Amino acid sequence: MDEPVIVVTRHWPAPVEQELTRRFRDVQLNRDDVPLGPEGLRAALEQADVVLPTVSDRLGAELFAGQVRTTFLGNFGVGYDHIDVKAAAKAGIVVTNTPGVLTDTTADTAMTLLLMVARRAGEGEREVRAGRWTGWRPTHLMGADVSGKTLGILGMGRIGVAVARRGHFGFGMPVVFYDPLTVEPNHGIPDARRVDTVEDVLALADFVSLHMPGGGANTHLIDAAALARMKPTAFLINSARGDVVDQPALIAALRSGTIAGAGLDVYEGEPNIPSELLELDNAVLLPHLGSATLATRTAMGMLVLDNLRDFLAGREPSCRVA
Ligand code: DGY
Repeated sequence: MDEPVIVVTRHWPAPVEQELTRRFRDVQLNRDDVPLGPEGLRAALEQADVVLPTVSDRLGAELFAGQVRTTFLGNFGVGYDHIDVKAAAKAGIVVTNTPGVLTDTTADTAMTLLLMVARRAGEGEREVRAGRWTGWRPTHLMGADVSGKTLGILGMGRIGVAVARRGHFGFGMPVVFYDPLTVEPNHGIPDARRVDTVEDVLALADFVSLHMPGGGANTHLIDAAALARMKPTAFLINSARGDVVDQPALIAALRSGTIAGAGLDVYEGEPNIPSELLELDNAVLLPHLGSATLATRTAMGMLVLDNLRDFLAGREPSCRVA
């Protein structure tokens, strides 16, 4: 491929867009940052050799049907459940993602949610900004302690381990985890306890943090029954994917006191968030900020470009997922 036609589906950090246009002549950027939608994505697959999508682009099997021109999909992000990779591979497309470079940033976001929801920081901020704060008092916005409480991790991949390390070394939290894919006994975290089932983590933890991929068998892994297994004083933290949690069941659990609270960065059907969730004071809600620092988003973009360079040179891209 001499001069590939490249479509970038969303606006990327300036250093990456500059590098992309320095390396390639035929690049279609999306400086207005308007999502392409299914028709725009299909047009991109028909007209471009390379499409660089991200989590806000739904690339289901129907988009890969029939004739497509694209041979490389470089996803900006580590999670790729928004892409039907089997259908992409069947259409002859190589798919890559961006693991590793966003681990610490995303783990920091999970800890932000955990601390905010435990210490009622969102409620406090809303109170101050609304001019409703009347001053210090002994019973004002009393939250839950974090230090020494049990941290449960579901999905002990890179980000799960990074959250566990933060909890253990930073806050003295005993760690329990479940991950059917890892054989590591404790991931270098003293006393971290591997348990045999999701249910064990739910029952033991004061904070349950989700770090598995979305889609497939993980869809609605945390449903009404799972929430009922958690302690009524426990908190659920989701910085993974929205569909892992049955959102109506979570809303019901937060309303009824089945669990104490939730810190969420991701949602089913985002960016739409049901008003029932918006109304709940025991939920901290962030707009999918997991990897959102300039350095990390730049590193993610540069990793997409490294994979593209290797693909175009006929080498195996290091982050190939299909
Ligand atoms: C990721 O990398 O998966 C982030 O959630 C953004 O897609």
